[in-house]
Amino acid sequence: MKLWAREKPPEGQPAPVTTVPSGKTLGAEIQGLDLKHISAEEFGAIHSAWLDYLVVLIRGQQLTDGDLIRFSGRFGELDWAPVQETGRRFVEGHPEIYVVSNVIENGTPIGSLGSGEAVWHTDMSYLETPPKASILYALTVPPVGGDTYFCNMYAAYDSLPSSVRERISPLNLKHDATYNSGGYIRQGMTPADDPINSMGVYHPIVTTHPETGRKALYLGRRRNAYIGGLPLAESEALLDELWQYATQHELTWRNEWKRGDLVLWDNRCTMHRRDAFDPRFSRILHRTQIKGEIRPSA
Ligand code: SIN
Repeated sequence: MKLWAREKPPEGQPAPVTTVPSGKTLGAEIQGLDLKHISAEEFGAIHSAWLDYLVVLIRGQQLTDGDLIRFSGRFGELDWAPVQETGRRFVEGHPEIYVVSNVIENGTPIGSLGSGEAVWHTDMSYLETPPKASILYALTVPPVGGDTYFCNMYAAYDSLPSSVRERISPLNLKHDATYNSGGYIRQGMTPADDPINSMGVYHPIVTTHPETGRKALYLGRRRNAYIGGLPLAESEALLDELWQYATQHELTWRNEWKRGDLVLWDNRCTMHRRDAFDPRFSRILHRTQIKGEIRPSA
């Protein structure tokens, strides 16, 4: 456990900010913060924890969309959210906010991804320069289900046999733009299940994190993924093998959401997925995504 501020605050002062690692290969909770009012020192602690633990949980927040955008903006310029499956942008006046929800109002979903499983992915890797971070803030959560899992893609790379590392080091992977992680077609896309010809962007399979210098597997999403230049069957077999390493249980950590939780993750070295939940319960989370500064590179 790291203490980032005074160990014993003077009488009447707020408790110190502490970082509590999850004990897994990624994930830490930072306690003692009100994200509406953080100092430069506290932001520094969050930023370091994000690079060290890849996923950071901060509980007990009460944020407006404006607060969420202001906090997110401390990490860099924000990307506009992907357009909802219905073609709608989400929050009037806040194009940066992506709403993840199963709630339907007047016959129209207020957000994306419904109540089914969202499969393993990293956010918006179908862009040439995908977001470096995402931040998800829980407004309404079901009593059970809808947990979000994260996996450590540095550890996944480190766990590969050296023969596999050598084989993949020169290869590029197409990240499909057709479907989102809930299996819904993205706005403006035509349904396609041909990995060779589907729309998408190529990135190296092994990337070097621009801030930590560590190597990570960069897989994006399994559906319609294709390793450039390989016969399709060979690409499929190699991807299946890599995905087994990437999603091994020992390399994951999950958040069982409480209202007021904020989770920040590094898209350059993690993937995430979400469990399905009972559609009779409402789940509403607001997400921001922080622009990457450079394209993923080997
Ligand atoms: C997402 O993929 O950003 C949403 C995950 C979730 O619903 O927990």
